[in-house]
Amino acid sequence: MGKFSVDRIARGLHYRIGRYIAKQDAAVQAQREKDAAVPLAPIPTKINVGCGQDKRPGYLNIDVDPASRADILIVDNNDSAIPRNYFEEVLAHDVLEHIPRAKTLAALLDWADYLIYGGKLILQTSSILGVAEKLQQSKRYEQQHAWTVCLFGNQAHSGDYHLTGFTELTLKVHLLAAGFRIDHLALREDWLLTAEATKVYDWAASCDATVGSDTEFMREAYQRAVFRDVEGEELESATRALKLGVARKVALKAIYASPERLFRVAQRNDL
Ligand SMILES: C[S@@+](CC[C@H](N)C(=O)[O-])C[C@H]1O[C@@H](n2cnc3c(N)ncnc32)[C@H](O)[C@@H]1O
Repeated sequence: MGKFSVDRIARGLHYRIGRYIAKQDAAVQAQREKDAAVPLAPIPTKINVGCGQDKRPGYLNIDVDPASRADILIVDNNDSAIPRNYFEEVLAHDVLEHIPRAKTLAALLDWADYLIYGGKLILQTSSILGVAEKLQQSKRYEQQHAWTVCLFGNQAHSGDYHLTGFTELTLKVHLLAAGFRIDHLALREDWLLTAEATKVYDWAASCDATVGSDTEFMREAYQRAVFRDVEGEELESATRALKLGVARKVALKAIYASPERLFRVAQRNDL
């Protein structure tokens, strides 16, 4: 075969490849246009926190456990994908006791932040006194064993441990401290606490994060969260953190999530 014909074959091949690629590009483009025309499903206005295997239709189901195959998997406590001031309902069934005791209020503040003003929190958790009562009534080993499991969790995997528990009073104070009005709080099946609560205070909006100096912001934050002046070293260290780049909302949440807030809210409510 002469040089001329090899060139022709090569040119013909390039032409065919070019046409093939152009066709593929057109197909990709057409698919892109088709995809863009399909509207994204809106995010549900109810969220099921710690859904586990109980994934509910009509809810955004979230969990920290990959085995749950949740709609959103929370990794390293990063819940920044969850919209704020958006949901009408937060459902948290049998979840709060899985969160470390010292983080209970921080978790409730986050859940409150997911909700619109007037949104509802529906909660179920374990009652320490309810389980204790059951233990006291049980006379057989197998019964006391089962109630011990109810108190401390199945412990089948790392997320399956109970790290805290509540009484009506301690749950009430936590809910009030997170800015909820308690509509209903009761013992269910003798050992579970169920609560329905409404967001009536927006801790995140309690200080306008855009105005004033860092010092003014911190003074306002302490007044709002723990009802007192902030002074001296405490003020210095708080404003230093802001200067180092800590967001005002993060600093505000730390004050609202402090044990001091729980004690002061309890005191104010004569509890
Ligand atoms: C006992 S299961 C309850 C599952 C489900 N809500 C139900 O009622 O069947 C507790 C779930 O809470 C999840 N969990 C624990 N800590 C969490 C957190 N900080 N945020 C979201 N989910 C969490 C666990 O992974 C687990 O799936």
